[in-house]
Order: sequence, then structure tokens, then C-alpha cells
Amino acid sequence: MTVALGPKGNNLSLGGKVSQVSAEDAYTHLTTPVFGKGVVYDCPNDLLMQQKKFIKHGLTTEALSSYAPLMYKEATDFFEHELGLTPATPGPKKLEALKIMSELIILTAGRSLQGKEVRASLNARFASLYEDLDGGFTPLNFMFPNLPLPSYRRRDRAQKEMSDFYLDIIRKRREGETEPEHDMISVLSGCVYRDGTPLTDRDVSHMMIAILMAGQHTSSATSSWILLHLAHRPDVVEALYEEQKKLFGNQDGTFREVTYESTKQMTLMEAIIRETLRLHAPIHSIYRKVLSDIPVPASLSSPSESSAYVIPEGHFIVAAPGVSQMDPLIWPDAKTWNPYRWLDEKGVAASAKEQYSGATSEQVDYGFGQVSKGTESPYQPFGAGRHR
Ligand code: HEM
Repeated sequence: MTVALGPKGNNLSLGGKVSQVSAEDAYTHLTTPVFGKGVVYDCPNDLLMQQKKFIKHGLTTEALSSYAPLMYKEATDFFEHELGLTPATPGPKKLEALKIMSELIILTAGRSLQGKEVRASLNARFASLYEDLDGGFTPLNFMFPNLPLPSYRRRDRAQKEMSDFYLDIIRKRREGETEPEHDMISVLSGCVYRDGTPLTDRDVSHMMIAILMAGQHTSSATSSWILLHLAHRPDVVEALYEEQKKLFGNQDGTFREVTYESTKQMTLMEAIIRETLRLHAPIHSIYRKVLSDIPVPASLSSPSESSAYVIPEGHFIVAAPGVSQMDPLIWPDAKTWNPYRWLDEKGVAASAKEQYSGATSEQVDYGFGQVSKGTESPYQPFGAGRHR
């Protein structure tokens, strides 16, 4: 494995050509037994790019606006009924951050992207299926796709049961037994590849599993870190509360519902999320298999030797954007959690953000619409290039 660090290193792997580097060859033995066949890393890159275009249809402004009130209700119900936190009894309370955020994320995802049937099925059986599937994402699975061990058998049984569960939802909707809603299942069910091949029900169910797993760990880890940092910084909690009072507060001390549109005005909240992703990018190592020899540019190897190194075909190239996200040569006070750095319009964070997703950054269409390439930014919590 060759680890290529810094914006230039990230560009080498994440900005590499499909003929040179492959995510599917690096991940498929880990992800396919969990997600299922035919989607994501068990198909050619061109199909994954089209699948991402389909997923984008479920994440339009209109879709996100319709999810916001559902998420708001799930969250307030969860605080009141599960945690016993109401305006009248606000605490103090000892709560385990990762446990409660994992629960809250699956409830909100269940009610919005995943759809009402998934939300209604969030019971002990679903939790145990999820846990068995999740048990397929360990370093051991990375090394050995199949071993005669109980965790592998549990993974395979859970994959089949989860996939059948989604198939059943699709069948019931088609037969008119349940009313479809605007969620990812509805969006994906009508999708057709460029060559006219429709997504099969099995493809849809495997994509739903992929989305469930992709969103769950990343979002619950990030929001848990946010809670832990806030616990250290009562001043930021106070500022955040003031921001929410300003945007949603009524005269009588109650609060109006948060809408998707209004989240865009929550500048401190956004800065907190950005800063937390800077220090705790949930995906710390990003792998590509090398398909044809990559000469390492002189600027990355020793300046005195021009392209002295070659990363050979068959090896892996690893990116770790978290390294440049915490590089003291780039970020002032790099290791300190300081959300306010994102509010300084002339600071390093503002230019990193612009390089990552700004209008002046290089735009590319990999097959799922124009996106910023972002490979040269020192800030890449969602990766960069075509797999962003
Ligand atoms: C804090 C939240 C999240 C973070 C930090 C995050 C991070 C990432 C990163 C770094 C990659 C690129 C991996 C690579 O290049 O090999 C990725 C890929 C992906 N993510 Fe996320 N993610 C988050 C949330 C989500 C959510 C909510 C979904 C689904 C709704 C999702 C779906 C995906 C999918 C489908 C891919 C594969 C895309 C591809 O390989 O082209 N992620 N994510």
C-alpha cells in the first residue's frame, strides 16, 4: 500500500483516471456481501455513477424540504418520550452520546429517506439484522471476504433477510397494499439506466441497504463528536441557543418548527458541523486498487529525483484527507476545535471551502451532474473526485 498524503497526494488517488485506479476493486469484497450484488462496487464504475444520479433525485431541495418536518417530529418525540427531556424537565442528565445519536439517526432516516415502512419496522428484529450486517464491516472482512466463521454466516443471513424486507415493501406498494410516499424507494423504483435497462427490485433493495449503512455510521459518529465538543464548550452551546432563538423563537419562549430552508440561515450550526468533520472525518482511509502503473510526480517524491517512484499495478493507493485537514502548516491552531474559523471570510477555512465546493472550483460531470472536483482542497470530509 502506498499512502499519498496532502492535497497533491489526494489528487493522485482521488483524482486518478478510471483506467488507472479503481474503488470497486478495492472495496467489493467488503461491501458486496453486505449491500448485495449488482450495485455500488459490484458493477462497473459507469453504472455506479448513474446510480448516484438516481440517488440525487431523492435529495432534491423539494425532497429535503419534505423530510425536514418529519425529522423534526421524530427528534422532538425522541427527546420527549425516549430521553424524557421536555422544556419543563430539560435535565441535567447523563446520556451516552453514540448510543442516542445512533438511535436518533436511524429514526430520522427511517422516517424520511428510507420511508414509513422502514420507520414502522424499527424494532428489535431490525436492530439485530442491522447489527449482523454491520458485523460484516470489520478489518477481518477486508482481508478475507469469506471465512467459515459465525459472524460471516450471520452477515449472509442478515443480507438476505434485509434484502427480502425491502423487496416486500416494493411489492406491497406496487400491489396497492400500501400508499407510496416521496422517499428513496419510490425514487429508485422508476429509474432506468442510459441504455434502457431498468433498475430491478433487487437492485433497489440492495441500494437501500447501501444507503442505510453509508448514512448511519458517518452521521451518528459526526453528531456524537458534536455533542462531546459542545459539552466542553458551554459558550458555544449558548451562542448556538441564541442563533436558534433568533431564527425560531416566539415571544412566549416557545419555538417554531425548523424547516429545510431555515437550516441555511443556521450559520453557527453549519460551522460546527464543518469543524467537527475537519477533526473527525468518519472515513479516515480511502482506498483505490492500482490498475496500471502510476509514476509519482517529482513534486511528490524527492525533488532531486524526477519521478523516481512508480506505484505498481496491483498495489493499493491510500488517501487520508484527515491528515491535511489537521495539518499545522495549513490550519492555524490545527488541533483545536474552533467552529468560528469557518465564519472568518478571509481565513484558511473559507478558501478550503471554496476549493472544495465553491463556484470558482473546478467543476466536472462524472455522470451524476456537475460537481466540484475538490481534489486539491485541504478539506475533503466527503472525499473528492468521482466517488465524492
Ligand atoms: C457525515 C456524513 C457522511 C460522510 C462524512 C461521508 C463520507 C463519504 C466519503 C469520504 C465517501 C467516499 C469514499 C471513497 O471515495 O472511496 C463516501 C461515499 C459514499 N457515501 Fe457518504 N458520507 C456521509 C453520509 C452519507 C449519507 C447520508 C449517504 C446516503 C444517503 C452516503 C452515501 C454514500 C455513497 C452511496 C457513497 C459511495 C459513492 C461512490 O463510491 O461513488 N453518505 N461518503
